Amino acid sequence: MTDRCNMRCVYCMPAGGVEKLAHEEILSYEQFLLIARAAVGLGIEKIRVTGGEPLVRHGIVPFLEQLAKTEGLRQLVLTTNGVKLAGLAQALKDAGVQRLNISLDSLQPALFKQLTRRDLLYEVLAGIEAVEKIGLSYKLNMVVMRGCNDHEICDFAALTREHDCTVRFIEYMPALKEEGWSALVVPGAEILQQLETRYQLQAIDNGPLAGPAREFAIAGGRGRIGVINPLSGHFCAKCNRIRITAAGQVRTCLFSDDEFDLKPLLQLNDVEILTRQLKRLVDGKPACHKLNAAEFSHAAFSMAHIGG
Ligand code: 5AD
Ligand code: SF4
Repeated sequence: MTDRCNMRCVYCMPAGGVEKLAHEEILSYEQFLLIARAAVGLGIEKIRVTGGEPLVRHGIVPFLEQLAKTEGLRQLVLTTNGVKLAGLAQALKDAGVQRLNISLDSLQPALFKQLTRRDLLYEVLAGIEAVEKIGLSYKLNMVVMRGCNDHEICDFAALTREHDCTVRFIEYMPALKEEGWSALVVPGAEILQQLETRYQLQAIDNGPLAGPAREFAIAGGRGRIGVINPLSGHFCAKCNRIRITAAGQVRTCLFSDDEFDLKPLLQLNDVEILTRQLKRLVDGKPACHKLNAAEFSHAAFSMAHIGG
């Protein structure tokens, strides 16, 4: 929805921030609705709204209300950093958002501030409380980084004992191509091992609309635990996603630099033409990313550009 964000997570944005898109480059809500109609007509059943931070874009709630009405859409979910959630939770639920993914990498105020370069942990926690209070389903996304927040893995998992939510551990990915990035990766298997020293985990079978996480529950716990390992156990063969950036670029793989510019087609305002192009793009999805290959190279990017 936007490349803007009210946080500056270290793994997503360089310290100096990223160059912002000009307003006229960003797709209008009407254009996003047209893409949604074409995509859902083609058989896509789930739409995830992301950013940057989607909740900083003006008019987002009425847009979501329209989007939720797209005929044939089965799931509308939204990814947020949670900063503005406390005031918006009810409106999002009323608009038809069925679930939230909330990014949260530390429960410790000082570390949270270091990781997001913002002192907003309590706003996020208040947001989560609001979401829980109104019974909107949610997942917490924790990006695990070695020597940084990996000592909090069990604390995050423990949340699922009392709370009916999913906590997902995500392997850190080299989006910004930082020097020495591989030292930060904690493989999913190691995360699981760490959890298993403390808890008895039961594997859970995922439904067809589930994302790439492998899911577990702590025996007797209310919530679930997911592990996403894009690097150590890539799930490319099962990936059926396409991403549309705020500027209307289609990405069929997070780690491919290929982008297709939908803007010229969007100007034709023709859902049939758009549908045909989306179909071509889906058919052309690469078989696998090359993150683990020796010759691997992708341009540095920010998740704020692509949406995670
Ligand atoms: N590695 C792993 N996850 C990332 N995210 C953003 N950047 C990275 C990265 N480099 C996650 C955020 C958020 C989602 C949109 O993507 O934490 O939960
Ligand atoms: Fe903002 Fe999300 Fe990027 Fe953090 S990861 S800076 S919350 S877009």
